[in-house]
Amino acid sequence: MQNVRRPETMARITNIELANAFIDEQVAEIRKQVGDKKVLLALSGGVDSSVVAALLIKAIGKQLVCVHVNHGLMRKGESEQVINVFGKELDANLVYIDATDRFLDLLKGEADPEKKRKIIGGEFIKVFDEEASKLEGISFLAQGTIYPDILESKGVKAHHNVGGLPEDMQFELVEPVRLLYKDEVRVVGDALGLPHNMVYRQPFPGPGLGVRCLGAITRDRLHALREADAILREEFDNYGLAGKVWQYFISIPDMKSVGVRNDMRYEGWPAIIRAVNTSDAMTATIEEIPYELLHKITARITSEVEGINRVLYDLTPKPTGTIEWE
Ligand code: XMP
Repeated sequence: MQNVRRPETMARITNIELANAFIDEQVAEIRKQVGDKKVLLALSGGVDSSVVAALLIKAIGKQLVCVHVNHGLMRKGESEQVINVFGKELDANLVYIDATDRFLDLLKGEADPEKKRKIIGGEFIKVFDEEASKLEGISFLAQGTIYPDILESKGVKAHHNVGGLPEDMQFELVEPVRLLYKDEVRVVGDALGLPHNMVYRQPFPGPGLGVRCLGAITRDRLHALREADAILREEFDNYGLAGKVWQYFISIPDMKSVGVRNDMRYEGWPAIIRAVNTSDAMTATIEEIPYELLHKITARITSEVEGINRVLYDLTPKPTGTIEWE
């Protein structure tokens, strides 16, 4: 990460005209910095790396090589969206690695949250490194560093950045959005024509569903989690809450309870809903989800998702609860 300061005279990018001016300026700057050399980017599909990818594609086209590592812990449809948007629509040079088995095999039996994070972060670097070493003639590494990352690099974020890349990579950095705040990155993403749900995506932890499939991850519980989470997002969308609530997701603990389904005893996991509002993620309040929506989500999850027999709503603000359960 380059340690730079945002000039006090720099106007906040709040509309498409300002975004377009920023894009033109960055395209010229990227071309000047990179020349005819190649740039590598770890593309997670999150807002920041997606906007950086779109900017670089506009500036240098196929000289950018995007690597998307699917660690098997993505939300439903997210890796597919990366392939569709970048591989197909934008015709980018995209290397897609499905490393699901590698990650899940390593995580097998590991219930300790910190160890799980370390395994996921460490393996991510390994997979990315392996792919990078297969590519020839790469001179630059692009990163979706944004201004709060620079401001907070010694704070909470450093501990969170388990998906970060090794410090010793021998590349010069390209960080075109490093002076922008998140809301500005989104305006730029809109101006670049990225899909709305990508630009306004909720924050998603680097270790992904790995910290929401609580305790030792199993493939069947992870599958149930992904399906239940997709239903929650769909119903929030239908109810008009998608853009209003800051972050919402499902976690599933490693425990079963007795239930009944089709007149038969049905032991299953509980799906725990979390829906919070915050401005900086340091503290958070609970969204008051209307009961009719909670009932609908409960009915859908318990009837559509194999393995789940109860739905719970976590009413704990931060503090005392962190936003994620692990
Ligand atoms: P907590 O659980 O600490 O989360 O209240 C605060 C915010 O950070 C997100 N989070 C992460 N983000 N890598 C990330 O990039 C991580 O390892 C990570 N862990 C938590 C969390 O989703 C919430 O938005």
